[in-house]
Amino acid sequence: MDKRVLLIIGGGIAAYKSLDLIRLLAAKGVKTRTILTRAGAEFVTPLSVGSLSGQSVHQDLFALNEDGDMGHIELSRAADLVVVCPATADLLAKAAGGHANDLASTALLATDKPVLMAPAMNVRMWLHPATQRNVAQLRADGVTILEPDVGPMACGEFGPGRLPYPDQIADAILDCLGSPPRDQSLKGLRAIVTAGPTREPLDAVRFLSNHSSGKQGYAIAKALAERGANVSLVSGPTSLAPPPSMQVVQVETANEMLDAVLKGLPADVFISVAAVADWRPETRASGKLKIKNSGRSGLTLKLAENPDILHHISHLRNGRPQLVIGFAAETHHVEDYAAAKLARKGCDWIIANDVSGDVMGGAENEITLLRAGGVERWRRMTKEEVAEKLVDRISDAVTPPLGQDASHRSRTKAKRTSS
Ligand code: CTP
Repeated sequence: MDKRVLLIIGGGIAAYKSLDLIRLLAAKGVKTRTILTRAGAEFVTPLSVGSLSGQSVHQDLFALNEDGDMGHIELSRAADLVVVCPATADLLAKAAGGHANDLASTALLATDKPVLMAPAMNVRMWLHPATQRNVAQLRADGVTILEPDVGPMACGEFGPGRLPYPDQIADAILDCLGSPPRDQSLKGLRAIVTAGPTREPLDAVRFLSNHSSGKQGYAIAKALAERGANVSLVSGPTSLAPPPSMQVVQVETANEMLDAVLKGLPADVFISVAAVADWRPETRASGKLKIKNSGRSGLTLKLAENPDILHHISHLRNGRPQLVIGFAAETHHVEDYAAAKLARKGCDWIIANDVSGDVMGGAENEITLLRAGGVERWRRMTKEEVAEKLVDRISDAVTPPLGQDASHRSRTKAKRTSS
């Protein structure tokens, strides 16, 4: 997409997210020129904005450009869209009132292009009648104003006022720029994805776990949601931000993960990406186990087997998702062990990955997809690319003839691929 955006960065704690926005837009071929307000420069530096946008950052109303043109006129007219992110209460007020006493407000008044604003501020400031009046006025003037997210705020309060996630803002910008409609072929499909490790507590401070980062499961959940699927992500503890546009259920143990998956049913597709701990300490000490009580020969742990979530869901008599997909983490004899796992677990597809190298926690994955139709070996690729390719395969398996409901369509196609 060969488009240009003028991004006005206002002064708010969320200003740092505008850096991510510039990066996301660049990935879609959208060039960004920026105006950084004086307050914005208190939160992000002109150097970081300029490095990411690859263009000089405009801050001064009275600076002439190289050709001697008035900067604010040229800036506001050369873009296809003017974006204000974050839009502070002050910027909304200035724009609603038609003020022009700095570069940002002057560019907003001088532009003849569409304007999109992503407000972010304290909940009371957002709900204040003055701000709501300004928002109503701007909407009446034809400005697109995104609804802020609801949640805990940097100031400690809770409510509406958080800046939406940068990828949601990028999507709204692409919509305004008239990007080709995104593939929504999985609209109506209900998917449950498990991701990350589980933690099995030994005492009040220790647990058994593994090195799973959750990256692959999160990428799959995100790719499904982007194609319109209704996704529930059941995640063990990870350091990843919850992806937008889906329900995220945070759990710790394998038993909690199984409960959350069962509560999430009915679903059309279940993808078991989590590295579920096979065992848990049979007993959990209420306090901290003391070294002096472990005896001379050390501490002997008794482990109990955890539920096998994938096996359980694959064998549900009622409400089994029509397409059940497992992963097989192997360090050797990858395809043989994965084929045995496919049969043992009773799922429809299994995705084998060799975890002997840097796959767990790394950015890339090397996949072999095993299903009744045959074996597909994929080249080494990023976890996002693996997710896209897997979602392509899911889409091929469940895409409906138009007019069928989601559960019926997945039933027919999934059966076709697994038989
Ligand atoms: N899995 C699960 N519940 C478990 C163990 C595994 O749901 N208690 C799922 C994983 O999410 C994955 C698949 O089963 O989709 C295979 O997991 P993997 O760790 O490769 O195999 P295990 O079943 O643990 O067998 P082994 O450790 O012997 O390889």
